[in-house]
Amino acid sequence: FMLKEIYEQSSTLRNTLRLQDQFLELMTEFLDRAGEVFLVAAGTSYHACLAASYMFSKLAFLATHPIIASEFVEQHGKSVNIDSTILFVSQSGETADTLAALDHARLRASTILGLTNVIGSTLTRLSRVYVCQQSGPEIGVAATKTFTSQLSVLAQLALRLAKRRGKVSHVEIEFLEKKLQQIPDIAEDILRTQPGKIKQLAKKYCDKPCFFYLGRGISSATALEGRLKLLEIAYVPAIAYPAGESKHGPISLIETGFPLVFICPRDETHKMVVSNIMEMKARGASIIIVCEEGDEELKRLADDCIEVPKGVPEILSPIVYVIPLQLFAYYMALEQ
Ligand code: F6R
Repeated sequence: FMLKEIYEQSSTLRNTLRLQDQFLELMTEFLDRAGEVFLVAAGTSYHACLAASYMFSKLAFLATHPIIASEFVEQHGKSVNIDSTILFVSQSGETADTLAALDHARLRASTILGLTNVIGSTLTRLSRVYVCQQSGPEIGVAATKTFTSQLSVLAQLALRLAKRRGKVSHVEIEFLEKKLQQIPDIAEDILRTQPGKIKQLAKKYCDKPCFFYLGRGISSATALEGRLKLLEIAYVPAIAYPAGESKHGPISLIETGFPLVFICPRDETHKMVVSNIMEMKARGASIIIVCEEGDEELKRLADDCIEVPKGVPEILSPIVYVIPLQLFAYYMALEQ
């Protein structure tokens, strides 16, 4: 089922582009009016929230707080109030930690918004407004297609909010809207061209006892998700960090042959990631890079490289860059 659901992503992403306009618009209005915004979720859905915090900030100039559901009450329980708007993201709409945070927020009279895949779930019943991501049932234990759909919905919300707030030029908005429409085709392209290569990588690296996933900016969320898939499905311990933070301690783990997966789209962080890669290479790490097709600078530095089609904008990059990482986790699990 995991493999089937990974392959379904080009069609689930197409469905996610056909959401009901009025609910997206209503949710955008709530976000626009909000005093403070929290994005609360668990596991993979939390990684979608983390990526969304970059989208909202970069496009709509809205600061949001992505919070792990099980920490929400401890961290913000006393401060949330009637002025807080909280978007709960849950594929199932039933995750106990997420619903516990929601109960708390309801008691404090906060505005509850929901993003879920299951109509009729507790999250849909308790939300002021909810959006259903339309990914179809997810049978596999690991969240795959539902993650990319969540990202697509969150990007659509960030774009709408940016439009409403007039923070980004209409030329850029139109460009990003067009790119969002192309994402399902790009996903299809990756699923057609990369699996053979990824299978070979899994064979090459399957004996490694531990992996490191690194990315900067929005790709730090992609790194966390890639790492979660690997440890959840292949039972291989893995660590993920924002690449810039890796030198503050974790770098001491690196020795000859230690496998490092860098998520490196051609975005504003590219140059800094190159220097992180060189740092790790100097310590003898084996470097696997997920990068844009034809990125010769990175390909020269990499031991192995997975290429993603050109021209994916930064804020949409997690939707496509995570797909090779899902496949890698799947093939690594088969090799164990
Ligand atoms: C990871 C995974 C879990 C879920 C988490 C939240 O592959 O499936 O981490 O993402 O349990 O579930 P939902 O989104 O249903 O609240």
